[in-house]
Amino acid sequence: MSDVPARDREVVAGAIFRGGRLLLAQRTSPPALAGRWELPGGKVEEFETPQAALARELREELAVEVRCGARIGVDVQLSAGLVLRAYRAELVSGEPVALDHAQLAWVDAEELLSMDLVDNDRAWIPELLEELRAL
Ligand code: C5P
Repeated sequence: MSDVPARDREVVAGAIFRGGRLLLAQRTSPPALAGRWELPGGKVEEFETPQAALARELREELAVEVRCGARIGVDVQLSAGLVLRAYRAELVSGEPVALDHAQLAWVDAEELLSMDLVDNDRAWIPELLEELRAL
């Protein structure tokens, strides 16, 4: 047994802004979350950095290349040992397509407030709105 506490496993989500809008993706699963909207992303694999994981997830889910930027918003504890964090993601190449989601939407500040976001991602609304309103 080690005395060093294990670090939380991380789930990363990407906030892609363009032209005063934010990219949201509509989930298809699990059934309880299908139809609700999120920042796209997924679990960081063992020995992978959060930045590399975000790039990999967005490549797999949206067919784009992104550069991972700064953290945005609070940590969201998903369960014991699993934490969700949002990062800015800058589009480097490609046009996002929904490979893994039902559909995508580019929303402005007012539209963001009317979207049925998954509960976890609602924690980031203040920072996302602030960013959208500054664009
Ligand atoms: O997308 P995936 O199922 O790999 O995500 C792992 C976990 O993180 C799930 O519990 C999912 O609901 C959660 N998640 C979230 N918000 C996101 C991305 C993932 O709550 N933007």
